Amino acid sequence: MSAQIINGKEIAEAVRQDISKEVQQLREKNVVPGLAVILVGDNQASQTYVRNKQKACEDLGMHSVLIKQPADLTQPDLIRKIEELNQDDSIHGILVQLPLPGHIQEKAIIEAISPEKDVDGFHPINIGRMMTGQDAFLPCTPYGIMVMLEHIDYKLEGKHVVIVGRSNIVGKPAGQLFLNANATVTYCHSKTSDLAYYTRQADVVVVAVGKRDTITSSHIKEGAVVIDVGMNRNDEGKLCGDVSFEDVKNKASYITPVPKGVGPMTITMLMKNTVKSAQKTLNLDKQAMKS
Ligand code: GUN
Repeated sequence: MSAQIINGKEIAEAVRQDISKEVQQLREKNVVPGLAVILVGDNQASQTYVRNKQKACEDLGMHSVLIKQPADLTQPDLIRKIEELNQDDSIHGILVQLPLPGHIQEKAIIEAISPEKDVDGFHPINIGRMMTGQDAFLPCTPYGIMVMLEHIDYKLEGKHVVIVGRSNIVGKPAGQLFLNANATVTYCHSKTSDLAYYTRQADVVVVAVGKRDTITSSHIKEGAVVIDVGMNRNDEGKLCGDVSFEDVKNKASYITPVPKGVGPMTITMLMKNTVKSAQKTLNLDKQAMKS
């Protein structure tokens, strides 16, 4: 069997068309969804991510502000910047690009962002809302994975989902979203003994550990769905995920590639969350959710 490739780039484009219509509707009501991105320091990868986020905003007719700060910015100064943005009515979403320099406490920064503008979905209030099934900003990568599975009409109810990786950004919240969709969830991580014992039982395997070739064909059962969140470089310097793609694609039923898999969905869901935040200011979000 050769797996069907889940093309994240195509799905992201389809979702962006819907977002573009929502932006138009907001603009007709004189609201331009605005995203502020704060970048501290000059981490190369972060600069690329931030540029892509800004471009996505521009392409959708959204307002975007990039606030670049030096690596020696103090934590109180960063919190002051965030507080200004919390009060700024032209800004509906605030994102502080991670990782931050070592002298700044990530937790304090995330908690300084108003939960109503936390379009990353990292604030404990949004995480709590998500865990209790309330309306919340969902973390963008797990949210994107759910939209991809919806797009291929994959029914999660009663399925066994094994998550490999337990980061606050991907693994942990992804498991919660699968649970909310009535799947049975198992978490595996770097201390799991006999990873393959668990992953071989999975209908869906989500891999987010940041280490290439973590999952090979011997780790999965025939016909499994494999979602690869990894972003690594192989020996030739080419982008690759955490899954041995060529090997696993002959055994899986569906697989996400790297690049053009989960990656394009993450930024798209950030745009979706920013638009949702703007809609909330006009109480339009409930209508948008129904349509
Ligand atoms: N760094 C890597 N991924 C992310 C993300 O999704 N949000 C933020 N704020 N920083 C990141």
